[in-house]
Amino acid sequence: MEQELMRIGVSLPEKLLSRFDEIITQRGYSSRSEGIRDAIRNYIIHYEWMSDVEGERVGVITIVYSHHQRGLVDNLTDIQHEFGNIITSTLHVHLDKDNCLEVVILRGEGKDVRRAAERMMALKGVKHVKLTTTSVGAEL
Ligand code: NI
Repeated sequence: MEQELMRIGVSLPEKLLSRFDEIITQRGYSSRSEGIRDAIRNYIIHYEWMSDVEGERVGVITIVYSHHQRGLVDNLTDIQHEFGNIITSTLHVHLDKDNCLEVVILRGEGKDVRRAAERMMALKGVKHVKLTTTSVGAEL
């Protein structure tokens, strides 16, 4: 069943849009709209996947952020202390003059792992957050 297409206007930083255009060209999308539709679908799938994370999980949260953002480092530290009972370790890498990378490894209930990731994602100045999880003792 063909769905009606809705038209939306979106404002984007120039660098973000030109990087997006490069990628959709490399991947062979026929139009920017097609690339944006696909990106939105992936975004929805990712969040639906995140809300299905349950049971005991090992999680890895990767965060890239600007350490110039006022208050961000403190807020990130506060969240990590709050979830200290499930955080196994944290690795910090000073990527360049402006950016830091943090890799946080957690082990605990899926919903707590997810909540920790969502709290970090919501912080202003965070450029990228990725959560991957695996179940503990999963049979392969
Ligand atoms: Ni750093």
